Amino acid sequence: MSTLTGKVTVVTGASRGLGRAIAEMFAENGATVVATARDKTALIDLAQNFSGEGAIAAYASDVTQSNQVEGLIQFVLERFGKLDILINNAGVGHMGPVHELAEEDWDTMMAVNLKGPYLTCKYAIPHFIERKSGHIINISSVAGTVTFKGGGGYCASKFGLMALTDVLTQELKPHKVRVSVICPGSIQTGFGSSEPKSYALKPRDVAKVAYDMATAPEGVIMNQVVMRPQVPPELQ
Ligand SMILES: NC(=O)c1ccc[n+]([C@@H]2O[C@H](COP(=O)([O-])OP(=O)(O)OC[C@H]3O[C@@H](n4cnc5c(N)ncnc54)[C@H](OP(=O)(O)O)[C@@H]3O)[C@@H](O)[C@H]2O)c1
Repeated sequence: MSTLTGKVTVVTGASRGLGRAIAEMFAENGATVVATARDKTALIDLAQNFSGEGAIAAYASDVTQSNQVEGLIQFVLERFGKLDILINNAGVGHMGPVHELAEEDWDTMMAVNLKGPYLTCKYAIPHFIERKSGHIINISSVAGTVTFKGGGGYCASKFGLMALTDVLTQELKPHKVRVSVICPGSIQTGFGSSEPKSYALKPRDVAKVAYDMATAPEGVIMNQVVMRPQVPPELQ
């Protein structure tokens, strides 16, 4: 039996990139994964092409829409009877000096990166509290720990997610619900507008950290991991 057998796991932003890698790794290790994002075709492709001990179910939803997130959690509870792990991975990044950042891009980052996790937590937490069990893993960024020029909107959204994570940790500890956050540096995905660097983190290396958090021994909470790629010396 694999380590995550029977664990019902929701992964947001699972249509591609890091979320897809997390969904695959969790299902490979026995979890029943509900993969969600807006791109239904990509989710169905992910679910249908998975073969392993666990399973992947596709459920299209937009994390910024309260009724769709409520529908997602309802679907999980009706179909699988419980939720064990919630991974808030969906995210978008628009970089540029604050005075040049389009208002629409600011709003989208706040909606996807910050309101999305708030909504999934809002609908999942009552179930976690009732069961006195559960695990929330948020995907933040190094940009949620240090700022950089051009990151006005993105850093603000990820610093906000760090604050939300911290509050959730305090609120949910008495209910035996674990809360964790991963802060990766650059990952080899199609995130943002620039080509990923060859030395950037591999999605599966970041997914492995989520796996380690989810499989930590009973009574152990892995709160936070900040991980950066090893940048070649000539590029530092
Ligand atoms: N790549 C990096 O260098 C890097 C570094 C540090 C942290 N991160 C963080 O890692 C996470 C994953 O990023 P990634 O690199 O895998 O990016 P990605 O390849 O662009 O994937 C982003 C995912 O978010 C989903 N998404 C976007 N808007 C959504 C919405 N409104 N509702 C539901 N899902 C939505 C996308 O699916 P749909 O378009 O199908 O909805 C997609 O599955 C993000 O939180 C990002 O901030 C990335």
